[in-house]
Amino acid sequence: MLTLGIETTCDETACAIVRNGREILANVVSSQIDLHAEYGGVVPELACRRHLELLIPVIQQALNQAEVRLEEINLISVAQGPGLIGALLIGLNAAKALSLALDIPYIGVDHVEAHLYAAWMSHSEPISFPCLGVVLSGGHTSLMTIPKLGQSQIVSQTVDDAIGEAFDKVAKILGLPYPGGPHIEQLASQGDSAKFKFSSGRVKESPLDFSFSGLKTAVLYACKDLQLSYKEKTDIAASFQKVAFQDVVNKCMKVSEMNGYTHLLFGGGVTNNQKLREMFKHSAPQLTCVWPALGLSLDNAAMIAGLGYQKYIEKGQGDNLHLEPYTRINKC
Ligand code: KG4
Ligand code: ZN
Repeated sequence: MLTLGIETTCDETACAIVRNGREILANVVSSQIDLHAEYGGVVPELACRRHLELLIPVIQQALNQAEVRLEEINLISVAQGPGLIGALLIGLNAAKALSLALDIPYIGVDHVEAHLYAAWMSHSEPISFPCLGVVLSGGHTSLMTIPKLGQSQIVSQTVDDAIGEAFDKVAKILGLPYPGGPHIEQLASQGDSAKFKFSSGRVKESPLDFSFSGLKTAVLYACKDLQLSYKEKTDIAASFQKVAFQDVVNKCMKVSEMNGYTHLLFGGGVTNNQKLREMFKHSAPQLTCVWPALGLSLDNAAMIAGLGYQKYIEKGQGDNLHLEPYTRINKC
Protein backbone atom coordinates (compact mmCIF):
# COMPACT_ATOMS: atom_id res chain seq x y z
CA MET A 1 0.00 0.00 0.00
CA LEU A 2 1.43 3.38 -1.03
CA THR A 3 0.76 6.37 1.22
CA LEU A 4 1.46 9.95 0.19
CA GLY A 5 2.15 12.09 3.27
CA ILE A 6 1.81 15.88 3.46
CA GLU A 7 3.37 18.04 6.18
CA THR A 8 2.73 21.80 6.42
CA THR A 9 2.38 22.47 10.14
CA CYS A 10 5.03 25.18 10.41
CA ASP A 11 7.90 26.22 8.15
CA GLU A 12 8.66 23.03 6.24
CA THR A 13 6.72 22.08 3.13
CA ALA A 14 7.13 18.33 2.85
CA CYS A 15 5.81 15.35 0.93
CA ALA A 16 6.81 11.69 1.21
CA ILE A 17 5.81 8.40 -0.35
CA VAL A 18 5.94 5.43 2.04
CA ARG A 19 5.16 1.78 1.31
CA ASN A 20 3.31 -0.19 4.01
CA GLY A 21 4.01 2.39 6.71
CA ARG A 22 7.76 1.82 6.86
CA GLU A 23 9.58 1.73 3.56
CA ILE A 24 10.42 5.28 2.49
CA LEU A 25 10.44 5.69 -1.30
CA ALA A 26 10.77 9.49 -1.23
CA ASN A 27 11.07 12.05 1.55
CA VAL A 28 11.17 15.61 0.18
CA VAL A 29 11.47 18.51 2.62
CA SER A 30 11.59 22.08 1.43
CA SER A 31 12.73 24.17 4.34
CA GLN A 32 11.85 27.86 4.63
CA ILE A 33 14.82 28.63 6.90
CA ASP A 34 16.19 31.35 4.58
CA LEU A 35 12.82 33.09 4.47
CA HIS A 36 12.48 33.36 8.25
CA ALA A 37 16.17 33.68 9.24
CA GLU A 38 16.25 37.48 9.22
CA TYR A 39 13.34 37.59 11.72
CA GLY A 40 14.94 35.03 14.07
CA GLY A 41 11.75 32.92 14.04
CA VAL A 42 8.83 31.81 11.87
CA VAL A 43 6.54 34.54 10.45
CA PRO A 44 3.17 32.74 9.97
CA GLU A 45 1.92 34.86 7.06
CA LEU A 46 5.14 34.35 5.10
CA ALA A 47 5.13 30.63 5.90
CA CYS A 48 1.60 30.23 4.47
CA ARG A 49 2.43 32.03 1.23
CA ARG A 50 5.48 29.86 0.77
CA HIS A 51 3.51 26.65 1.44
CA LEU A 52 1.08 27.68 -1.31
CA GLU A 53 3.92 28.16 -3.78
CA LEU A 54 5.83 25.03 -2.83
CA LEU A 55 3.31 22.33 -2.05
CA ILE A 56 2.46 21.17 -5.57
CA PRO A 57 6.10 21.18 -6.81
CA VAL A 58 7.15 19.30 -3.66
CA ILE A 59 4.43 16.65 -4.22
CA GLN A 60 5.56 16.34 -7.83
CA GLN A 61 9.18 15.97 -6.75
CA ALA A 62 8.31 13.21 -4.26
CA LEU A 63 6.39 11.28 -6.94
CA ASN A 64 9.32 11.63 -9.36
CA GLN A 65 11.83 10.49 -6.75
CA ALA A 66 9.71 7.47 -5.79
CA GLU A 67 9.05 6.73 -9.48
CA VAL A 68 5.38 6.45 -8.68
CA ARG A 69 2.42 7.94 -10.57
CA LEU A 70 -0.27 9.81 -8.66
CA GLU A 71 -2.82 7.18 -9.77
CA GLU A 72 -0.81 4.47 -7.97
CA ILE A 73 -1.21 6.13 -4.55
CA ASN A 74 -3.66 4.30 -2.25
CA LEU A 75 -3.93 6.68 0.72
CA ILE A 76 -3.27 10.35 1.51
CA SER A 77 -2.10 11.19 5.03
CA VAL A 78 -1.85 14.75 6.29
CA ALA A 79 -0.74 16.51 9.47
CA GLN A 80 -3.97 17.82 11.01
CA GLY A 81 -2.29 19.69 13.90
CA PRO A 82 -0.89 21.11 16.06
CA GLY A 83 0.62 23.97 14.09
CA LEU A 84 -0.06 27.32 12.43
CA ILE A 85 -3.70 27.50 11.41
CA GLY A 86 -3.14 28.90 7.91
CA ALA A 87 -0.34 26.46 7.17
CA LEU A 88 -2.42 23.49 8.37
CA LEU A 89 -5.38 24.54 6.20
CA ILE A 90 -3.19 24.49 3.10
CA GLY A 91 -1.99 20.93 3.72
CA LEU A 92 -5.41 19.67 4.80
CA ASN A 93 -7.20 21.14 1.78
CA ALA A 94 -4.58 19.75 -0.58
CA ALA A 95 -5.13 16.31 0.99
CA LYS A 96 -8.92 16.60 0.65
CA ALA A 97 -8.60 17.73 -2.98
CA LEU A 98 -6.28 14.83 -3.85
CA SER A 99 -8.58 12.37 -2.10
CA LEU A 100 -11.60 13.63 -4.05
CA ALA A 101 -9.82 13.82 -7.39
CA LEU A 102 -8.22 10.36 -7.09
CA ASP A 103 -11.18 8.78 -5.30
CA ILE A 104 -8.98 7.37 -2.54
CA PRO A 105 -9.21 7.76 1.26
CA TYR A 106 -7.34 10.39 3.23
CA ILE A 107 -6.57 10.55 6.92
CA GLY A 108 -5.46 13.27 9.34
CA VAL A 109 -2.72 12.52 11.88
CA ASP A 110 -1.22 14.31 14.84
CA HIS A 111 2.15 15.93 14.07
CA VAL A 112 3.52 15.28 17.56
CA GLU A 113 2.52 11.60 17.56
CA ALA A 114 4.08 11.36 14.08
CA HIS A 115 7.42 12.61 15.50
CA LEU A 116 7.37 9.57 17.80
CA TYR A 117 6.36 7.28 14.95
CA ALA A 118 9.56 8.49 13.20
CA ALA A 119 11.62 6.88 15.97
CA TRP A 120 9.64 3.65 15.70
CA MET A 121 10.15 3.66 11.92
CA SER A 122 13.92 3.99 12.47
CA HIS A 123 14.13 1.00 14.79
CA SER A 124 13.98 -2.67 13.94
CA GLU A 125 13.76 -4.21 17.43
CA PRO A 126 10.37 -4.62 19.15
CA ILE A 127 9.36 -1.87 21.57
CA SER A 128 7.74 -2.58 24.91
CA PHE A 129 4.48 -0.60 25.25
CA PRO A 130 3.37 1.36 27.17
CA CYS A 131 6.47 3.50 26.85
CA LEU A 132 7.44 7.13 27.28
CA GLY A 133 7.26 9.50 24.32
CA VAL A 134 9.64 12.47 24.49
CA VAL A 135 9.04 15.26 21.98
CA LEU A 136 11.68 17.99 21.93
CA SER A 137 11.26 20.46 19.09
CA GLY A 138 10.97 24.12 18.19
CA GLY A 139 7.27 24.08 19.01
CA HIS A 140 6.89 21.36 21.65
CA THR A 141 8.42 19.95 24.80
CA SER A 142 6.25 17.09 25.96
CA LEU A 143 6.50 13.85 27.84
CA MET A 144 3.73 11.48 26.85
CA THR A 145 2.49 8.06 27.81
CA ILE A 146 2.30 5.93 24.67
CA PRO A 147 -0.03 2.96 25.24
CA LYS A 148 0.50 1.94 21.60
CA LEU A 149 1.62 3.54 18.35
CA GLY A 150 -0.59 6.46 17.35
CA GLN A 151 -2.03 6.99 20.82
CA SER A 152 -0.74 9.35 23.47
CA GLN A 153 -1.62 11.03 26.74
CA ILE A 154 0.31 14.07 27.89
CA VAL A 155 2.22 13.58 31.14
CA SER A 156 3.89 16.97 31.21
CA GLN A 157 4.86 19.81 28.91
CA THR A 158 6.42 23.23 28.88
CA VAL A 159 4.53 26.07 30.47
CA ASP A 160 6.35 28.69 28.36
CA ASP A 161 9.08 28.31 25.68
CA ALA A 162 9.64 25.00 23.91
CA ILE A 163 13.18 23.68 24.37
CA GLY A 164 14.10 24.24 20.69
CA GLU A 165 12.71 27.77 20.95
CA ALA A 166 14.98 28.36 23.97
CA PHE A 167 17.96 27.10 21.92
CA ASP A 168 16.98 29.46 19.09
CA LYS A 169 16.64 32.44 21.44
CA VAL A 170 19.93 31.74 23.24
CA ALA A 171 21.60 31.41 19.84
CA LYS A 172 20.24 34.83 18.89
CA ILE A 173 21.64 36.31 22.14
CA LEU A 174 25.04 34.81 21.27
CA GLY A 175 24.87 36.22 17.73
CA LEU A 176 24.39 32.83 16.03
CA PRO A 177 22.15 32.20 12.98
CA TYR A 178 18.61 30.77 13.03
CA PRO A 179 17.75 27.99 13.73
CA GLY A 180 20.22 28.07 16.57
CA GLY A 181 20.12 24.50 17.94
CA PRO A 182 22.90 23.00 15.80
CA HIS A 183 25.07 26.13 16.29
CA ILE A 184 24.67 25.96 20.07
CA GLU A 185 25.60 22.26 19.99
CA GLN A 186 28.72 23.03 17.96
CA LEU A 187 29.78 25.93 20.20
CA ALA A 188 29.00 23.98 23.38
CA SER A 189 31.24 21.11 22.30
CA GLN A 190 34.23 23.42 22.82
CA GLY A 191 33.07 24.92 26.13
CA ASP A 192 33.14 24.15 29.84
CA SER A 193 29.62 23.39 31.09
CA ALA A 194 30.57 24.11 34.71
CA LYS A 195 31.66 27.72 34.08
CA PHE A 196 28.25 29.38 34.34
CA LYS A 197 25.86 28.43 37.13
CA PHE A 198 22.47 28.37 35.43
CA SER A 199 19.56 26.47 36.90
CA SER A 200 16.58 24.77 35.29
CA GLY A 201 13.07 26.20 35.58
CA ARG A 202 10.72 24.79 38.22
CA VAL A 203 6.96 24.72 37.96
CA LYS A 204 5.83 24.60 41.58
CA GLU A 205 2.31 23.35 41.12
CA SER A 206 3.27 20.62 38.63
CA PRO A 207 6.90 19.55 39.12
CA LEU A 208 7.11 17.37 36.00
CA ASP A 209 6.32 20.30 33.69
CA PHE A 210 9.09 22.28 32.00
CA SER A 211 9.89 25.98 31.97
CA PHE A 212 12.70 27.35 29.82
CA SER A 213 12.03 31.07 29.74
CA GLY A 214 13.83 31.75 33.06
CA LEU A 215 16.91 29.87 31.85
CA LYS A 216 16.91 31.88 28.62
CA THR A 217 16.64 35.13 30.61
CA ALA A 218 19.51 34.02 32.86
CA VAL A 219 21.64 33.61 29.71
CA LEU A 220 20.56 37.06 28.56
CA TYR A 221 21.70 38.59 31.88
CA ALA A 222 24.99 36.69 31.79
CA CYS A 223 25.68 38.24 28.38
CA LYS A 224 24.35 41.71 29.11
CA ASP A 225 26.79 44.60 28.87
CA LEU A 226 29.69 42.22 28.32
CA GLN A 227 31.95 41.95 25.32
CA LEU A 228 32.10 38.18 25.38
CA SER A 229 35.18 36.44 24.09
CA TYR A 230 34.74 33.38 21.88
CA LYS A 231 35.81 31.18 24.82
CA GLU A 232 33.17 32.71 27.09
CA LYS A 233 30.52 32.11 24.44
CA THR A 234 31.45 28.44 24.24
CA ASP A 235 31.18 28.20 28.05
CA ILE A 236 27.77 29.88 28.07
CA ALA A 237 26.50 27.58 25.31
CA ALA A 238 27.83 24.49 27.12
CA SER A 239 26.42 25.56 30.50
CA PHE A 240 22.99 26.38 29.04
CA GLN A 241 22.81 23.16 27.05
CA LYS A 242 23.84 21.01 30.03
CA VAL A 243 21.22 22.49 32.36
CA ALA A 244 18.42 22.26 29.77
CA PHE A 245 19.22 18.64 28.92
CA GLN A 246 19.81 17.51 32.50
CA ASP A 247 16.31 18.74 33.29
CA VAL A 248 14.91 16.59 30.44
CA VAL A 249 16.94 13.55 31.48
CA ASN A 250 15.89 13.85 35.15
CA LYS A 251 12.17 14.19 34.36
CA CYS A 252 12.25 11.30 31.87
CA MET A 253 13.94 9.08 34.45
CA LYS A 254 11.42 10.06 37.09
CA VAL A 255 8.37 9.34 34.90
CA SER A 256 9.85 6.05 33.67
CA GLU A 257 10.58 4.92 37.19
CA MET A 258 7.13 5.90 38.45
CA ASN A 259 5.43 3.93 35.66
CA GLY A 260 7.89 1.10 35.08
CA TYR A 261 8.66 2.14 31.49
CA THR A 262 11.70 0.53 29.89
CA HIS A 263 11.57 2.19 26.44
CA LEU A 264 11.72 5.84 25.44
CA LEU A 265 10.64 7.02 21.98
CA PHE A 266 12.19 10.35 20.98
CA GLY A 267 11.02 12.88 18.40
CA GLY A 268 11.66 16.45 17.23
CA GLY A 269 14.59 18.47 15.93
CA VAL A 270 16.37 18.82 19.28
CA THR A 271 16.83 15.02 19.44
CA ASN A 272 19.43 15.47 16.68
CA ASN A 273 21.75 16.73 19.40
CA GLN A 274 24.51 14.20 20.12
CA LYS A 275 25.20 15.56 23.60
CA LEU A 276 21.58 14.85 24.56
CA ARG A 277 21.93 11.26 23.35
CA GLU A 278 25.20 10.89 25.27
CA MET A 279 23.65 12.23 28.46
CA PHE A 280 20.81 9.68 28.31
CA LYS A 281 23.29 6.88 27.70
CA HIS A 282 25.37 7.99 30.64
CA SER A 283 22.61 8.84 33.14
CA ALA A 284 19.99 6.24 32.23
CA PRO A 285 21.74 3.13 30.87
CA GLN A 286 18.82 1.00 32.12
CA LEU A 287 16.44 2.66 29.62
CA THR A 288 16.29 1.74 25.93
CA CYS A 289 16.33 5.01 24.00
CA VAL A 290 14.84 4.87 20.51
CA TRP A 291 16.03 7.85 18.45
CA PRO A 292 14.78 8.95 15.03
CA ALA A 293 17.13 8.25 12.13
CA LEU A 294 18.89 11.08 10.35
CA GLY A 295 16.35 12.87 8.14
CA LEU A 296 13.44 11.83 10.36
CA SER A 297 14.06 13.96 13.44
CA LEU A 298 13.27 17.35 11.91
CA ASP A 299 9.83 17.99 10.43
CA ASN A 300 9.19 15.62 7.52
CA ALA A 301 6.30 13.92 5.75
CA ALA A 302 7.60 10.32 5.93
CA MET A 303 6.51 10.19 9.57
CA ILE A 304 3.09 11.58 8.57
CA ALA A 305 2.65 8.97 5.82
CA GLY A 306 3.81 6.17 8.14
CA LEU A 307 1.48 7.04 10.99
CA GLY A 308 -1.41 7.64 8.57
CA TYR A 309 -0.98 4.12 7.20
CA GLN A 310 -1.03 2.63 10.72
CA LYS A 311 -4.17 4.54 11.65
CA TYR A 312 -5.92 3.64 8.42
CA ILE A 313 -5.18 -0.06 8.86
CA GLU A 314 -6.49 0.12 12.40
CA LYS A 315 -9.68 2.10 11.65
CA GLY A 316 -10.34 0.40 8.33
CA GLN A 317 -11.44 3.72 6.83
CA GLY A 318 -10.30 7.27 6.14
CA ASP A 319 -11.67 10.55 7.52
CA ASN A 320 -14.64 12.40 6.09
CA LEU A 321 -14.31 15.76 4.33
CA HIS A 322 -15.35 17.73 7.44
CA LEU A 323 -12.02 17.19 9.21
CA GLU A 324 -10.81 20.46 10.78
CA PRO A 325 -7.24 21.44 11.72
CA TYR A 326 -6.30 22.11 15.34
CA THR A 327 -3.58 24.48 16.45
CA ARG A 328 -2.73 23.30 19.95
CA ILE A 329 -1.33 20.07 21.32
CA ASN A 330 -4.42 19.32 23.45
CA LYS A 331 -6.45 19.29 20.24
CA CYS A 332 -8.50 22.40 20.95
O1 KG4 B 1 11.05 19.29 14.95
P1 KG4 B 1 11.47 20.57 14.34
O2 KG4 B 1 11.98 20.54 12.93
O3 KG4 B 1 10.32 21.60 14.30
C1 KG4 B 1 9.23 21.68 15.13
O4 KG4 B 1 8.29 20.85 15.02
O5 KG4 B 1 9.29 22.61 15.95
O6 KG4 B 1 12.56 21.21 15.32
C2 KG4 B 1 13.25 22.40 15.05
C3 KG4 B 1 13.99 22.82 16.32
C4 KG4 B 1 14.65 24.18 16.24
O7 KG4 B 1 14.31 24.91 17.38
C5 KG4 B 1 16.14 23.85 16.19
O8 KG4 B 1 16.95 24.87 16.76
C6 KG4 B 1 16.19 22.59 17.01
O9 KG4 B 1 15.03 21.87 16.62
N1 KG4 B 1 17.40 21.78 16.73
C7 KG4 B 1 18.36 21.52 17.65
C8 KG4 B 1 19.36 20.77 16.98
N2 KG4 B 1 18.97 20.60 15.67
C9 KG4 B 1 17.76 21.23 15.56
N3 KG4 B 1 18.45 21.85 18.95
C10 KG4 B 1 19.55 21.43 19.62
N4 KG4 B 1 20.56 20.73 19.04
C11 KG4 B 1 20.50 20.38 17.73
N5 KG4 B 1 21.51 19.70 17.17
ZN1 ZN C 1 7.76 19.06 14.48
